[in-house]
Amino acid sequence: MSTMRAWVYRTKGKPADVLRLEPDYPKPVPTSSQVLVRVKAAGLNPIGYKSMYVAPLKFSQKVPSVPEQDVAGVVEGGDLEGTGLKLGDEVFGLLPIQETNKTCKGALAEYTVIDKANVMRKPASLSFEETASFPLALLTAYWALVTTGELQKGTRVFINGGSGGVGAYAVQVAKAYGAFVVTTCSPASRDLVSTLGADDVLDYRASPLPAQLKAKYGNEPFDLVFDTVGADPSVWHKCSGYLKPKGHYVDVAGPHMDGSLGSMLSGMTSFMGRMLRPGFLGGVPRKYTFGIMAADRQMVDAVEELVRAGKVRPIIDSVFAFEHALEAYDRQMSSRAQGKIVVRVEA
Ligand SMILES: NC(=O)c1ccc[n+]([C@@H]2O[C@H](COP(=O)([O-])OP(=O)(O)OC[C@H]3O[C@@H](n4cnc5c(N)ncnc54)[C@H](OP(=O)(O)O)[C@@H]3O)[C@@H](O)[C@H]2O)c1
Repeated sequence: MSTMRAWVYRTKGKPADVLRLEPDYPKPVPTSSQVLVRVKAAGLNPIGYKSMYVAPLKFSQKVPSVPEQDVAGVVEGGDLEGTGLKLGDEVFGLLPIQETNKTCKGALAEYTVIDKANVMRKPASLSFEETASFPLALLTAYWALVTTGELQKGTRVFINGGSGGVGAYAVQVAKAYGAFVVTTCSPASRDLVSTLGADDVLDYRASPLPAQLKAKYGNEPFDLVFDTVGADPSVWHKCSGYLKPKGHYVDVAGPHMDGSLGSMLSGMTSFMGRMLRPGFLGGVPRKYTFGIMAADRQMVDAVEELVRAGKVRPIIDSVFAFEHALEAYDRQMSSRAQGKIVVRVEA
């Protein structure tokens, strides 16, 4: 049996407690429709650590497991039929959580397997680290704004959290489609966010955000709110002050849950209220969608084209060596990253 070095967790818990670099973990074998990739860089996402210990995600995650969904590397084998790829080609792509929670074959290893429908060709002008920063966050931004929010030229959109992994790509996607974009960040992230092209950037720490939004945009409300933060429920509860009556609130963060049973129960209760309580029973009279992003080939092609055309540029907070992946998790779990965190697997 061929083996590889891989970060593996065999029980559920926080990364520092359960994630270990194993020197002889079985190298994955591609099935039909999968491409074998020699990993050069892996991107981190909050779902990586959440599926290790935050309910309810951890309940669907099997172990032992290699974490993470974003990969960039070199084609080493597998089923290349219909892809136009050949051995040695440089690629990047998504390992969907819906699959890795069962297969347990994530990106944070020397090799991984990826469904050929989720592989994109790496532009020569971008590094492996840069392209590993795109898949999950960029596809999520596209799914929320374009697929679900039906954003188009002239749409007025408020993106909560413009400096995070998803938000920094969401601002760029919305501008690429010709939307009017308002976003938020703390003063520390303002320099970065102002380079992304947003029409207005609000400091969410200056005063309560719903009041800022109502004062500035109550007379010209938004068509779409995209919430990538979820930390402040009042942004949803008060959104009728700045979201049009037929507007759409798309949420990917959901209520805050920290792994405890109590936070899971209160989170699920608040969540069901958002989705099910009608306006006449005290609910917010606006359309609300929460979802876990699921990519199809049309979405993958669309984001590959955005990257290839340079309409979305990589935003990297930090790059960590493979051996220092636990430090990368500390940074990810701080919720202070400006853009994406990437682990360099092979120099
Ligand atoms: N449903 C899905 O399919 C899906 C997919 C991807 C991600 N997600 C979820 O979406 C959320 C965001 O993911 P991410 O990768 O963007 O996370 P992230 O990169 O860790 O987000 C960090 C950023 O959040 C900003 N931030 C923190 N609190 C904020 C606030 N109150 N207002 C505005 N910005 C704030 C921070 O900026 P400052 O330091 O400037 O405050 C920092 O730049 C996570 O909960 C993740 O699990 C869901």
